[in-house]
Amino acid sequence: MDQFKIQGGRRLEGTVRISGAKNAALPAMAACLLTAETVRLHNIPHVRDIITMAKLLAHMRCNVGSPDIPPSEFTIQAQNISHIEAPYELVKTMRASILTLGPLVARFGYARVSLPGGCSIGARPVDLHIQALEKLGAKIAVDHGYVEARADRLRGTTIHFPKITVTGTENILTAAVLAEGETILENCALEPEIPDLAELLTKMGAKIEGAGTPMIRVQGVSELHGTTHTIIPDRIEAGTFLVAGAITGGELLLTSCEPGHLGAIIEKLRECGVWIKCEGNGTIRVKAVNKLVAADVATLEYPGFATDMQAQFMALATQAHGVSHIRETIFENRYLHASEMMRMGANISIDGNLASVTGPTPLSGAPVTASDLRASAGLVLAGLVANNTTWIDRVYHIDRGYEQIENKLRAVGASIERVSQA
Ligand code: EPZ
Repeated sequence: MDQFKIQGGRRLEGTVRISGAKNAALPAMAACLLTAETVRLHNIPHVRDIITMAKLLAHMRCNVGSPDIPPSEFTIQAQNISHIEAPYELVKTMRASILTLGPLVARFGYARVSLPGGCSIGARPVDLHIQALEKLGAKIAVDHGYVEARADRLRGTTIHFPKITVTGTENILTAAVLAEGETILENCALEPEIPDLAELLTKMGAKIEGAGTPMIRVQGVSELHGTTHTIIPDRIEAGTFLVAGAITGGELLLTSCEPGHLGAIIEKLRECGVWIKCEGNGTIRVKAVNKLVAADVATLEYPGFATDMQAQFMALATQAHGVSHIRETIFENRYLHASEMMRMGANISIDGNLASVTGPTPLSGAPVTASDLRASAGLVLAGLVANNTTWIDRVYHIDRGYEQIENKLRAVGASIERVSQA
Protein backbone atom coordinates (compact mmCIF):
# COMPACT_ATOMS: atom_id res chain seq x y z
CA MET A 1 0.00 0.00 0.00
CA ASP A 2 1.29 3.44 -0.92
CA GLN A 3 1.69 6.32 1.49
CA PHE A 4 2.18 10.05 0.94
CA LYS A 5 5.03 11.79 2.70
CA ILE A 6 4.35 15.52 2.87
CA GLN A 7 6.74 18.14 4.16
CA GLY A 8 4.42 21.02 4.99
CA GLY A 9 4.89 24.77 4.97
CA ARG A 10 5.61 25.41 1.29
CA ARG A 11 3.78 28.19 -0.54
CA LEU A 12 2.21 26.85 -3.77
CA GLU A 13 2.61 28.89 -6.92
CA GLY A 14 1.99 28.06 -10.57
CA THR A 15 -0.52 26.56 -12.96
CA VAL A 16 -2.61 23.42 -12.50
CA ARG A 17 -4.59 21.77 -15.28
CA ILE A 18 -7.88 20.39 -14.01
CA SER A 19 -8.77 16.90 -15.26
CA GLY A 20 -12.09 15.56 -16.51
CA ALA A 21 -14.75 14.81 -13.89
CA LYS A 22 -14.64 11.26 -12.57
CA ASN A 23 -18.29 11.48 -11.53
CA ALA A 24 -19.32 12.50 -15.05
CA ALA A 25 -17.04 9.98 -16.75
CA LEU A 26 -18.41 6.98 -14.82
CA PRO A 27 -22.08 7.34 -15.92
CA ALA A 28 -20.89 8.20 -19.44
CA MET A 29 -18.92 4.94 -19.61
CA ALA A 30 -21.93 2.99 -18.31
CA ALA A 31 -24.11 4.71 -20.93
CA CYS A 32 -21.93 3.17 -23.66
CA LEU A 33 -23.72 -0.12 -22.86
CA LEU A 34 -26.81 1.36 -24.53
CA THR A 35 -25.53 0.91 -28.08
CA ALA A 36 -23.69 -1.65 -30.18
CA GLU A 37 -21.81 1.19 -31.89
CA THR A 38 -18.57 2.80 -30.75
CA VAL A 39 -18.68 5.73 -28.35
CA ARG A 40 -15.56 7.87 -28.06
CA LEU A 41 -15.13 9.72 -24.75
CA HIS A 42 -12.55 12.49 -24.32
CA ASN A 43 -11.16 14.08 -21.14
CA ILE A 44 -11.48 10.92 -19.07
CA PRO A 45 -9.33 11.22 -15.94
CA HIS A 46 -6.71 8.56 -15.28
CA VAL A 47 -7.97 7.49 -11.85
CA ARG A 48 -8.63 4.15 -10.25
CA ASP A 49 -12.45 4.27 -10.42
CA ILE A 50 -12.22 4.74 -14.19
CA ILE A 51 -9.93 1.73 -14.46
CA THR A 52 -12.43 -0.26 -12.38
CA MET A 53 -15.31 0.79 -14.66
CA ALA A 54 -13.21 -0.14 -17.71
CA LYS A 55 -12.54 -3.56 -16.13
CA LEU A 56 -16.24 -4.00 -15.45
CA LEU A 57 -17.14 -3.19 -19.06
CA ALA A 58 -14.39 -5.51 -20.29
CA HIS A 59 -15.76 -8.24 -18.01
CA MET A 60 -19.07 -7.86 -19.87
CA ARG A 61 -17.05 -8.31 -23.11
CA CYS A 62 -17.18 -4.68 -24.25
CA ASN A 63 -14.24 -3.57 -26.39
CA VAL A 64 -12.58 -0.90 -24.28
CA GLY A 65 -9.72 1.00 -25.89
CA SER A 66 -7.62 3.68 -24.25
CA PRO A 67 -4.77 4.59 -26.57
CA ASP A 68 -3.07 7.26 -24.46
CA ILE A 69 -1.25 6.94 -21.18
CA PRO A 70 -2.75 8.56 -19.15
CA PRO A 71 -5.92 7.65 -21.05
CA SER A 72 -7.70 10.93 -21.60
CA GLU A 73 -9.59 9.21 -24.41
CA PHE A 74 -11.59 5.99 -24.27
CA THR A 75 -13.40 4.17 -27.04
CA ILE A 76 -16.06 1.77 -25.86
CA GLN A 77 -18.02 -0.62 -28.02
CA ALA A 78 -20.67 -2.80 -26.42
CA GLN A 79 -21.47 -4.99 -29.43
CA ASN A 80 -20.86 -8.53 -28.26
CA ILE A 81 -21.94 -8.35 -24.64
CA SER A 82 -22.10 -11.79 -23.08
CA HIS A 83 -21.75 -11.43 -19.27
CA ILE A 84 -24.63 -9.17 -18.24
CA GLU A 85 -23.39 -9.02 -14.70
CA ALA A 86 -21.49 -6.66 -12.39
CA PRO A 87 -19.76 -9.01 -9.95
CA TYR A 88 -19.23 -8.31 -6.27
CA GLU A 89 -15.43 -8.27 -6.65
CA LEU A 90 -15.65 -5.13 -8.80
CA VAL A 91 -18.71 -3.51 -7.21
CA LYS A 92 -17.18 -3.68 -3.73
CA THR A 93 -14.27 -1.51 -4.88
CA MET A 94 -16.54 1.01 -6.63
CA ARG A 95 -20.18 1.69 -5.81
CA ALA A 96 -20.70 3.49 -9.11
CA SER A 97 -20.82 0.03 -10.75
CA ILE A 98 -24.55 0.22 -9.95
CA LEU A 99 -24.73 2.66 -12.88
CA THR A 100 -24.63 -0.31 -15.26
CA LEU A 101 -28.00 -1.59 -13.98
CA GLY A 102 -30.23 0.89 -15.87
CA PRO A 103 -28.51 0.68 -19.28
CA LEU A 104 -28.21 -3.14 -19.15
CA VAL A 105 -31.85 -3.83 -18.35
CA ALA A 106 -33.00 -1.20 -20.85
CA ARG A 107 -31.03 -2.68 -23.75
CA PHE A 108 -30.85 -6.39 -22.94
CA GLY A 109 -33.95 -6.87 -20.78
CA TYR A 110 -31.81 -8.42 -18.08
CA ALA A 111 -29.13 -7.35 -15.61
CA ARG A 112 -27.48 -8.86 -12.56
CA VAL A 113 -25.55 -6.34 -10.47
CA SER A 114 -24.10 -6.88 -7.02
CA LEU A 115 -25.56 -4.68 -4.28
CA PRO A 116 -22.89 -2.19 -3.24
CA GLY A 117 -23.42 -2.39 0.53
CA GLY A 118 -22.41 0.35 2.97
CA CYS A 119 -19.21 2.35 2.81
CA SER A 120 -17.11 4.46 5.15
CA ILE A 121 -19.22 7.62 4.67
CA GLY A 122 -22.61 6.03 5.36
CA ALA A 123 -25.13 3.28 4.58
CA ARG A 124 -25.73 4.55 1.03
CA PRO A 125 -28.60 2.28 -0.05
CA VAL A 126 -29.73 1.97 -3.69
CA ASP A 127 -33.42 1.48 -2.88
CA LEU A 128 -34.42 4.54 -4.92
CA HIS A 129 -32.71 3.16 -8.04
CA ILE A 130 -34.54 -0.14 -7.60
CA GLN A 131 -37.97 1.39 -6.91
CA ALA A 132 -37.68 3.64 -9.98
CA LEU A 133 -36.69 0.73 -12.24
CA GLU A 134 -39.67 -1.22 -10.92
CA LYS A 135 -41.90 1.73 -11.87
CA LEU A 136 -40.46 1.46 -15.38
CA GLY A 137 -41.76 -2.11 -15.43
CA ALA A 138 -38.67 -4.12 -14.45
CA LYS A 139 -39.22 -7.19 -12.29
CA ILE A 140 -36.57 -7.05 -9.62
CA ALA A 141 -35.33 -9.74 -7.27
CA VAL A 142 -32.69 -9.14 -4.65
CA ASP A 143 -31.02 -12.42 -3.91
CA HIS A 144 -27.63 -13.58 -2.63
CA GLY A 145 -26.44 -9.96 -2.53
CA TYR A 146 -27.32 -9.31 -6.17
CA VAL A 147 -30.03 -7.20 -7.84
CA GLU A 148 -31.53 -9.11 -10.74
CA ALA A 149 -33.69 -7.05 -13.07
CA ARG A 150 -35.80 -8.33 -15.97
CA ALA A 151 -38.09 -6.60 -18.45
CA ASP A 152 -39.19 -7.36 -22.00
CA ARG A 153 -39.10 -3.66 -22.63
CA LEU A 154 -39.19 -0.90 -20.04
CA ARG A 155 -42.29 1.30 -20.21
CA GLY A 156 -42.25 5.06 -19.71
CA THR A 157 -44.05 6.46 -16.68
CA THR A 158 -43.82 9.27 -14.13
CA ILE A 159 -41.26 8.75 -11.38
CA HIS A 160 -40.93 11.06 -8.41
CA PHE A 161 -37.69 10.56 -6.48
CA PRO A 162 -38.62 10.90 -2.79
CA LYS A 163 -35.06 12.05 -2.13
CA ILE A 164 -32.59 13.65 -4.50
CA THR A 165 -30.03 11.13 -5.71
CA VAL A 166 -27.25 11.82 -8.21
CA THR A 167 -26.45 8.31 -9.45
CA GLY A 168 -30.13 7.37 -9.01
CA THR A 169 -31.11 10.11 -11.48
CA GLU A 170 -28.34 8.98 -13.85
CA ASN A 171 -29.24 5.30 -13.63
CA ILE A 172 -32.91 5.89 -14.37
CA LEU A 173 -32.21 8.44 -17.11
CA THR A 174 -30.01 5.89 -18.89
CA ALA A 175 -32.80 3.32 -18.56
CA ALA A 176 -35.62 5.64 -19.68
CA VAL A 177 -33.95 6.59 -22.98
CA LEU A 178 -34.72 3.11 -24.38
CA ALA A 179 -38.11 2.69 -22.64
CA GLU A 180 -41.32 2.65 -24.64
CA GLY A 181 -43.10 6.02 -24.56
CA GLU A 182 -42.57 9.01 -22.31
CA THR A 183 -40.87 9.01 -18.91
CA ILE A 184 -41.09 11.99 -16.58
CA LEU A 185 -38.52 12.12 -13.79
CA GLU A 186 -39.36 14.47 -10.92
CA ASN A 187 -37.16 15.78 -8.10
CA CYS A 188 -34.03 14.97 -10.08
CA ALA A 189 -30.51 15.86 -9.02
CA LEU A 190 -29.22 19.08 -10.60
CA GLU A 191 -25.49 18.30 -10.46
CA PRO A 192 -23.62 19.34 -13.67
CA GLU A 193 -22.84 15.64 -14.25
CA ILE A 194 -26.55 15.12 -15.14
CA PRO A 195 -26.75 17.59 -18.08
CA ASP A 196 -23.36 16.26 -19.23
CA LEU A 197 -24.78 12.73 -19.32
CA ALA A 198 -27.94 13.99 -21.06
CA GLU A 199 -25.79 15.72 -23.67
CA LEU A 200 -23.95 12.47 -24.39
CA LEU A 201 -27.23 10.52 -24.56
CA THR A 202 -28.75 13.12 -26.89
CA LYS A 203 -25.74 12.81 -29.20
CA MET A 204 -26.41 9.05 -29.15
CA GLY A 205 -29.96 9.71 -30.39
CA ALA A 206 -31.93 9.99 -27.12
CA LYS A 207 -34.73 12.52 -26.73
CA ILE A 208 -34.33 14.34 -23.42
CA GLU A 209 -35.58 17.70 -22.14
CA GLY A 210 -34.94 19.42 -18.84
CA ALA A 211 -31.69 17.81 -17.66
CA GLY A 212 -30.19 20.11 -15.02
CA THR A 213 -33.69 21.03 -13.77
CA PRO A 214 -35.77 19.07 -11.23
CA MET A 215 -37.99 17.61 -14.00
CA ILE A 216 -36.54 15.61 -16.87
CA ARG A 217 -38.74 14.47 -19.73
CA VAL A 218 -37.60 11.55 -21.89
CA GLN A 219 -39.22 10.26 -25.09
CA GLY A 220 -38.02 6.68 -25.41
CA VAL A 221 -36.39 5.56 -28.66
CA SER A 222 -35.84 2.00 -29.84
CA GLU A 223 -32.13 2.29 -30.57
CA LEU A 224 -29.13 4.51 -29.87
CA HIS A 225 -25.96 4.96 -31.88
CA GLY A 226 -22.29 5.81 -31.44
CA THR A 227 -20.90 9.31 -30.96
CA THR A 228 -18.04 11.39 -29.55
CA HIS A 229 -18.24 13.34 -26.33
CA THR A 230 -15.94 15.39 -24.11
CA ILE A 231 -16.42 15.01 -20.35
CA ILE A 232 -16.84 18.19 -18.26
CA PRO A 233 -14.00 19.36 -15.97
CA ASP A 234 -13.87 18.04 -12.41
CA ARG A 235 -15.39 20.70 -10.16
CA ILE A 236 -14.27 18.92 -6.99
CA GLU A 237 -10.66 18.66 -8.11
CA ALA A 238 -10.81 22.37 -8.99
CA GLY A 239 -12.28 23.19 -5.56
CA THR A 240 -9.56 21.14 -3.88
CA PHE A 241 -6.83 23.10 -5.68
CA LEU A 242 -8.55 26.40 -4.83
CA VAL A 243 -8.21 25.42 -1.17
CA ALA A 244 -4.59 24.28 -1.74
CA GLY A 245 -3.71 27.74 -3.08
CA ALA A 246 -5.50 29.51 -0.24
CA ILE A 247 -4.32 27.35 2.66
CA THR A 248 -0.64 27.58 1.69
CA GLY A 249 -0.74 31.36 1.26
CA GLY A 250 0.08 30.86 -2.41
CA GLU A 251 -1.17 31.77 -5.86
CA LEU A 252 -2.46 29.20 -8.35
CA LEU A 253 -3.92 29.49 -11.81
CA LEU A 254 -6.34 26.65 -12.56
CA THR A 255 -6.91 25.92 -16.22
CA SER A 256 -9.40 23.72 -18.12
CA CYS A 257 -12.05 24.19 -15.47
CA GLU A 258 -15.66 25.39 -15.51
CA PRO A 259 -16.15 28.27 -13.02
CA GLY A 260 -19.91 28.09 -13.58
CA HIS A 261 -19.96 24.73 -11.75
CA LEU A 262 -18.09 26.12 -8.74
CA GLY A 263 -20.52 28.87 -7.64
CA ALA A 264 -21.17 27.80 -4.03
CA ILE A 265 -17.54 26.77 -3.48
CA ILE A 266 -16.10 30.05 -4.77
CA GLU A 267 -18.66 32.06 -2.79
CA LYS A 268 -17.79 30.24 0.45
CA LEU A 269 -14.05 30.56 -0.05
CA ARG A 270 -14.45 34.29 -0.74
CA GLU A 271 -16.41 34.58 2.50
CA CYS A 272 -13.33 33.09 4.20
CA GLY A 273 -11.22 35.90 2.73
CA VAL A 274 -9.78 33.98 -0.22
CA TRP A 275 -9.17 36.08 -3.36
CA ILE A 276 -10.54 34.29 -6.44
CA LYS A 277 -10.86 35.62 -9.96
CA CYS A 278 -12.41 33.84 -12.93
CA GLU A 279 -10.23 35.01 -15.79
CA GLY A 280 -12.14 33.60 -18.77
CA ASN A 281 -11.42 30.62 -21.02
CA GLY A 282 -11.95 28.16 -18.19
CA THR A 283 -9.29 29.63 -15.90
CA ILE A 284 -9.54 30.62 -12.25
CA ARG A 285 -6.85 32.40 -10.23
CA VAL A 286 -6.70 31.97 -6.47
CA LYS A 287 -4.50 34.10 -4.26
CA ALA A 288 -4.06 34.39 -0.52
CA VAL A 289 -4.07 38.13 0.12
CA ASN A 290 -6.06 38.48 3.34
CA LYS A 291 -6.06 36.58 6.60
CA LEU A 292 -8.42 33.61 6.50
CA VAL A 293 -11.61 34.05 8.51
CA ALA A 294 -14.07 31.44 9.76
CA ALA A 295 -17.33 30.79 7.90
CA ASP A 296 -20.29 28.48 8.40
CA VAL A 297 -21.31 25.99 5.77
CA ALA A 298 -23.92 23.28 5.26
CA THR A 299 -23.42 20.66 2.59
CA LEU A 300 -26.33 20.52 0.17
CA GLU A 301 -27.31 19.09 -3.17
CA TYR A 302 -26.14 21.14 -6.17
CA PRO A 303 -26.20 24.11 -6.57
CA GLY A 304 -25.45 24.09 -2.81
CA PHE A 305 -22.04 23.48 -1.27
CA ALA A 306 -20.90 19.97 -2.27
CA THR A 307 -20.45 17.28 0.37
CA ASP A 308 -17.42 16.23 -1.71
CA MET A 309 -15.73 19.52 -0.64
CA GLN A 310 -16.54 19.26 3.06
CA ALA A 311 -13.27 17.64 4.20
CA GLN A 312 -11.19 20.12 2.19
CA PHE A 313 -13.18 23.03 3.68
CA MET A 314 -12.54 21.61 7.15
CA ALA A 315 -8.78 21.68 6.49
CA LEU A 316 -9.09 25.35 5.47
CA ALA A 317 -11.20 26.13 8.55
CA THR A 318 -8.37 24.93 10.84
CA GLN A 319 -6.34 27.88 9.51
CA ALA A 320 -9.13 30.48 9.63
CA HIS A 321 -9.63 32.99 12.46
CA GLY A 322 -12.73 32.19 14.52
CA VAL A 323 -15.17 29.30 14.74
CA SER A 324 -16.45 27.67 11.54
CA HIS A 325 -19.58 25.55 11.85
CA ILE A 326 -19.85 22.78 9.27
CA ARG A 327 -23.08 20.85 8.90
CA GLU A 328 -23.02 17.64 6.82
CA THR A 329 -26.53 17.00 5.54
CA ILE A 330 -25.96 14.46 2.74
CA PHE A 331 -24.10 11.55 4.36
CA GLU A 332 -24.44 10.42 7.96
CA ASN A 333 -20.81 9.51 8.66
CA ARG A 334 -18.58 11.84 6.73
CA TYR A 335 -16.33 13.18 9.50
CA LEU A 336 -13.72 10.43 9.73
CA HIS A 337 -11.05 12.93 8.61
CA ALA A 338 -11.84 15.18 11.60
CA SER A 339 -10.25 12.85 14.16
CA GLU A 340 -7.15 12.56 11.95
CA MET A 341 -6.94 16.37 11.68
CA MET A 342 -7.28 16.56 15.47
CA ARG A 343 -4.27 14.26 15.76
CA MET A 344 -2.42 16.94 13.78
CA GLY A 345 -3.47 19.57 16.32
CA ALA A 346 -6.75 20.85 14.86
CA ASN A 347 -9.36 22.11 17.31
CA ILE A 348 -12.54 20.37 16.14
CA SER A 349 -15.58 19.19 18.03
CA ILE A 350 -18.27 17.00 16.52
CA ASP A 351 -21.86 16.90 17.67
CA GLY A 352 -24.00 14.69 15.41
CA ASN A 353 -23.79 16.17 11.93
CA LEU A 354 -22.31 19.46 13.17
CA ALA A 355 -18.56 20.04 13.28
CA SER A 356 -17.20 23.16 14.96
CA VAL A 357 -13.68 24.10 13.96
CA THR A 358 -11.84 26.75 15.95
CA GLY A 359 -8.86 28.33 14.30
CA PRO A 360 -6.29 29.14 13.49
CA THR A 361 -4.28 26.31 14.99
CA PRO A 362 -0.78 25.39 13.89
CA LEU A 363 -0.91 21.83 12.59
CA SER A 364 1.95 19.46 13.20
CA GLY A 365 2.81 16.59 10.92
CA ALA A 366 1.67 13.17 12.11
CA PRO A 367 0.97 9.74 10.68
CA VAL A 368 -2.69 9.77 9.61
CA THR A 369 -5.00 7.38 7.79
CA ALA A 370 -7.22 8.20 4.82
CA SER A 371 -10.74 6.76 5.13
CA ASP A 372 -12.35 7.80 1.84
CA LEU A 373 -11.57 9.75 -1.29
CA ARG A 374 -12.41 13.28 -0.13
CA ALA A 375 -11.20 12.67 3.43
CA SER A 376 -7.80 11.88 1.88
CA ALA A 377 -7.87 15.18 -0.01
CA GLY A 378 -8.63 17.01 3.24
CA LEU A 379 -5.66 15.32 4.92
CA VAL A 380 -3.33 16.19 2.03
CA LEU A 381 -4.37 19.85 2.39
CA ALA A 382 -3.77 19.72 6.15
CA GLY A 383 -0.37 18.12 5.49
CA LEU A 384 0.57 20.96 3.09
CA VAL A 385 0.25 23.49 5.89
CA ALA A 386 1.52 21.36 8.82
CA ASN A 387 4.95 21.66 10.40
CA ASN A 388 7.33 18.82 9.70
CA THR A 389 6.33 15.59 8.04
CA THR A 390 2.85 14.15 7.57
CA TRP A 391 2.52 10.52 6.51
CA ILE A 392 -0.82 9.61 4.96
CA ASP A 393 -1.69 5.95 4.90
CA ARG A 394 -4.09 4.23 2.48
CA VAL A 395 -3.73 6.74 -0.33
CA TYR A 396 -5.40 4.24 -2.65
CA HIS A 397 -8.52 6.15 -1.63
CA ILE A 398 -7.21 9.35 -3.22
CA ASP A 399 -6.10 7.43 -6.33
CA ARG A 400 -9.76 6.56 -6.91
CA GLY A 401 -10.60 10.12 -7.87
CA TYR A 402 -7.62 12.48 -8.21
CA GLU A 403 -5.42 12.24 -11.28
CA GLN A 404 -1.73 12.35 -10.31
CA ILE A 405 -2.41 14.63 -7.36
CA GLU A 406 1.13 14.38 -6.01
CA ASN A 407 2.66 15.29 -9.40
CA LYS A 408 0.29 18.23 -9.81
CA LEU A 409 1.07 19.49 -6.30
CA ARG A 410 4.82 18.99 -6.70
CA ALA A 411 4.77 20.95 -9.97
CA VAL A 412 3.54 24.00 -8.06
CA GLY A 413 6.02 23.70 -5.22
CA ALA A 414 4.68 21.19 -2.71
CA SER A 415 6.98 18.69 -1.08
CA ILE A 416 4.97 15.48 -1.47
CA GLU A 417 6.13 12.06 -2.46
CA ARG A 418 4.55 8.67 -2.85
CA VAL A 419 6.26 5.98 -0.86
CA SER A 420 5.46 2.45 -1.93
CA GLN A 421 5.48 -0.17 0.76
CA ALA A 422 6.40 -3.69 -0.16
C1 EPZ B 1 -22.81 10.77 -5.86
O1 EPZ B 1 -23.00 9.62 -5.06
C2 EPZ B 1 -21.31 10.91 -6.03
N1 EPZ B 1 -20.80 9.71 -6.68
C3 EPZ B 1 -20.66 11.11 -4.67
O2 EPZ B 1 -19.29 11.35 -4.87
C4 EPZ B 1 -21.28 12.34 -4.00
O3 EPZ B 1 -20.75 12.48 -2.70
C5 EPZ B 1 -22.80 12.19 -3.93
O4 EPZ B 1 -23.34 11.92 -5.25
C6 EPZ B 1 -23.50 13.42 -3.38
O5 EPZ B 1 -23.18 14.53 -4.16
C7 EPZ B 1 -20.85 9.62 -8.01
O6 EPZ B 1 -21.34 10.48 -8.72
C8 EPZ B 1 -20.26 8.39 -8.63
P1 EPZ B 1 -26.69 10.17 -3.78
P2 EPZ B 1 -24.46 8.96 -4.95
O7 EPZ B 1 -27.44 9.01 -4.30
O8 EPZ B 1 -25.17 9.16 -6.22
C9 EPZ B 1 -29.28 8.63 -0.12
C10 EPZ B 1 -17.00 11.10 -4.39
O9 EPZ B 1 -16.25 11.30 -3.41
N2 EPZ B 1 -29.82 7.59 -1.01
O10 EPZ B 1 -26.95 11.50 -4.40
O11 EPZ B 1 -24.26 7.58 -4.45
C11 EPZ B 1 -27.78 8.46 0.16
O12 EPZ B 1 -27.53 7.50 1.16
C12 EPZ B 1 -18.34 10.47 -4.22
O13 EPZ B 1 -16.66 11.37 -5.56
C13 EPZ B 1 -30.78 6.73 -0.56
O14 EPZ B 1 -31.22 6.79 0.59
O15 EPZ B 1 -25.13 9.86 -3.85
C14 EPZ B 1 -27.38 9.86 0.55
O16 EPZ B 1 -27.69 10.10 1.88
C15 EPZ B 1 -18.62 10.01 -2.84
N3 EPZ B 1 -31.24 5.75 -1.41
C16 EPZ B 1 -28.28 10.74 -0.34
O17 EPZ B 1 -29.37 9.89 -0.74
C17 EPZ B 1 -30.79 5.65 -2.70
O18 EPZ B 1 -31.26 4.75 -3.42
C18 EPZ B 1 -27.62 11.29 -1.58
O19 EPZ B 1 -26.89 10.24 -2.22
C19 EPZ B 1 -29.82 6.54 -3.15
C20 EPZ B 1 -29.34 7.52 -2.29
